[in-house]
Amino acid sequence: MIMLHINGSAHKLHIPADMPLLWVLRDVLGMTGTKFGCGMGLCGACTIHIDGQPTRACITPASAAAGKQITTIEAIGATPAGKKIQLAWLALDVPQCGYCQSGQIMSASALLAGNRKPTDADIDNAMAGNICRCGTYVRVRAAIKQAAGVTTTGVPDIVTGTEALK
Ligand code: FES
Ligand code: FES
Repeated sequence: MIMLHINGSAHKLHIPADMPLLWVLRDVLGMTGTKFGCGMGLCGACTIHIDGQPTRACITPASAAAGKQITTIEAIGATPAGKKIQLAWLALDVPQCGYCQSGQIMSASALLAGNRKPTDADIDNAMAGNICRCGTYVRVRAAIKQAAGVTTTGVPDIVTGTEALK
């Protein structure tokens, strides 16, 4: 038996200790907001937070999260940084197909929670592991800056999300 604390709730689970957290979330608990992409820690689609740190759920065994606080996309909007990120995502209409976006938002929220005024380099470092096949990277960066209140003067097309960037 493993006790996992997910989004503020305790779950007593009879699962193998080495079951990936992604499996636990999606298949055992039915929390499908966290996505399966590569299953190898390479794409970022499955990003969750463990004690506030962005973590790839597909390569993290359930036992590694026992006694820690797990946060998923379903609850990130309840955190101050996550709320700002989600509002900016909506304002700039960031997603295209949407598949990678849970992971993008989780990584961006962790960045903003630890760094209130991230630079371009900070954003690049934090988001480098989140792959988007639709190429929403420009809007992702603009939304992180908007959430942080960092000026984006000089790139008004990015800020306003004009048709050319949708
Ligand atoms: S599904 Fe976990 S990193 Fe790709
Ligand atoms: S929005 Fe389609 S993969 Fe990122």
